[in-house]
Amino acid sequence: MSRVYNFSAGPSMLPLAVLEQAAKEMTDYNGSGMSVMEMSHRSPVYESVIAETEKDIRTLMSIPDNYKVLFLQGGATTQFSAVPLNLMKTGKADYIVSGQFSGKAAKEAEKYGAVKVIASSKDKNFTYVPYVGDFSDDADYVHICWNNTIFGTAFNYIPETGTTPLVADMSSSILSQPIDVSKFAVIYAGAQKNMGPAGLTVVIVREDMLGMSRPETPVMLDWKVQAENDSMYNTPPCYSIYVAGLVFKWILALGGLDEMKKINERKAAVLYDYLDGSKLFKPTAVKENRSLMNVCFVTGNPDTDKKFCSEAAKAGFVNIKGHRSVGGMRASIYNAMPVEGVELLVKFMEEFERSNA
Ligand SMILES: Cc1ncc(COP(=O)(O)O)c(C=O)c1O
Repeated sequence: MSRVYNFSAGPSMLPLAVLEQAAKEMTDYNGSGMSVMEMSHRSPVYESVIAETEKDIRTLMSIPDNYKVLFLQGGATTQFSAVPLNLMKTGKADYIVSGQFSGKAAKEAEKYGAVKVIASSKDKNFTYVPYVGDFSDDADYVHICWNNTIFGTAFNYIPETGTTPLVADMSSSILSQPIDVSKFAVIYAGAQKNMGPAGLTVVIVREDMLGMSRPETPVMLDWKVQAENDSMYNTPPCYSIYVAGLVFKWILALGGLDEMKKINERKAAVLYDYLDGSKLFKPTAVKENRSLMNVCFVTGNPDTDKKFCSEAAKAGFVNIKGHRSVGGMRASIYNAMPVEGVELLVKFMEEFERSNA
């Protein structure tokens, strides 16, 4: 059986080389006589897996020494719930709502204090990312979602929040290009798009953000506790961490995030250039906020969209249906999607356009 081009928004494609390596090591990891799935997280062999994984993400993202890297369970949803618990010390927080997940994050924070939505792009069904230049200086933090997976938009600027900590959900963009970590107080991301299997959530947190948690914070959601225990207050998502480690090594071998960015820009350009010239398909996001990772487009006719998705799947381009709040199609072209996957998709779209003109 041959592999399909999987355009799923998450969980998503993983690099074939990573899957093959994991398969090779499935029953005997590094001479241990067991799978990583079977070993104690407190064993020396596993300790070296997690230590190496942390070292590699630090190298890839140039994470400064005054940041902790946590490997946690619970997904990005658990982490956006943990943000107010850890940071809302005076009960005020600012949120930029540029899509569904940032909206959900703001709603969750409302349980703990006064949430101000300082900007929203809901007025145009989240087809753009609002620009905010001024921030109140009494908020405990400002929360953004860097890449809006459902709507295919992304920030094209880092908000200048002054001394107010900036917190970013980077679930669908982490490791897609270099980012200046020092501009953020906290970055969190679910692994299941650009890092590895679901079940792992990476939190990169500046040390001065630790130790402010609210008294009711569940112990598992307290970043200070997790940092003090090297992400092992309880059993961490061992196997997902190991696969993420293989993905980090794959990106390092490609040349790191500068190279990854070039490849991602090439892939996105192939698709957006075609969409800009197409008479059948229209991209939905405004040009200046187009995501490199999630490309959303429509024909304007739900029946044609449906026909396209079904024929695309038959041709080996799967999971291309858009989220129900946008309709149409969404091609998620994360790091693991090869350039030829996008080129072949565009070829298929051209043929579909010709026969459905
Ligand atoms: C940007 C973003 N944030 C949050 C989430 C929710 O992630 P999880 O399912 O890991 O809780 C997703 C899921 O797709 C996402 O794309």
